[in-house]
Amino acid sequence: EPMTYFRHNGIIFCSQLHKAERLEELKDFNIDPHIPVLITYPKSGTTWMQQIMSLILCNDNDSKKVINLYERAPWMESVRFKLESMDYQILTTHLNYQMVPNCVKNKMFKIIYVTRNPKDVIVSSYHFHEYSRFLEAPKNFQDFLENFVEGNVFFGSWFEHIRDWHSHKDELNILFVAYEDMKNDLQSVVQKVASFLNKKLDEETLESILNQCTFKHMKENPKTNYKSVSDLFNFESGSFYRKGITGDWKNYFLVSQNEWFDAIYQKKMGDFPLKFDNM
Ligand code: PPS
Repeated sequence: EPMTYFRHNGIIFCSQLHKAERLEELKDFNIDPHIPVLITYPKSGTTWMQQIMSLILCNDNDSKKVINLYERAPWMESVRFKLESMDYQILTTHLNYQMVPNCVKNKMFKIIYVTRNPKDVIVSSYHFHEYSRFLEAPKNFQDFLENFVEGNVFFGSWFEHIRDWHSHKDELNILFVAYEDMKNDLQSVVQKVASFLNKKLDEETLESILNQCTFKHMKENPKTNYKSVSDLFNFESGSFYRKGITGDWKNYFLVSQNEWFDAIYQKKMGDFPLKFDNM
């Protein structure tokens, strides 16, 4: 059995999904600037936004020939994808600013960055670690919380990821979208993303997209639900479409853990322009 994790540029990666060589090669990777790039810290609403973007680009994703969502929007850093032989619509990445291909660091590329309340990211990620075969199951919530705050989790520190990407916003053509806004008013988000991607949606298409983006639809749709990816996930220990809500952290954070996290958040992110509920 290989080691579960390795570090590259100080960041933790998963041996089953990543290789140092690929991460190095990626720097000089050339991407067609017509391909929009989706950037997220893990568990922030990646899959949901992949589905939204994919449907905006081609609202025929239920046809038989259409492949799995993760093949339409592959992770550029994952060795499971041979990008040269794929017909992808979108490139997805969890990488930090420093590690993405140099070619995307300009205004030619359309970049969408999805944010989510870090407390909900922590809870979602905690569960993800319990059923993902490429991650180590957490000892307990407190231990996971500490690792998260230290950046000792795959793809590194949430704080640095979001801060770094946001600090480069003026050099990029980047749209920030909040998971919480997707929950509150998905229609507005879909319209905003469509106009960012220069796509006009008629009413029928918009309605069809909204129907295909619900939690229930995506959970049941074999092209979006990962059910067949049993080498990576053990769905007896958890569910990818777990709850899909905001504020579930209240069911996991003890009062003391919440106060501790809030203090750290204030110190690290007090001046950060994007705001999260009650923070
Ligand atoms: S990953 O592994 O990084 O790609 O995970 P990611 O897709 O970023 O995050 C998974 C969480 O997103 C929720 N999700 C949704 N919520 C609402 N509506 C829809 N359609 C939807 N699709 C995915 C998913 O349930 C995970 O959140 P939690 O809180 O664990 O339920």
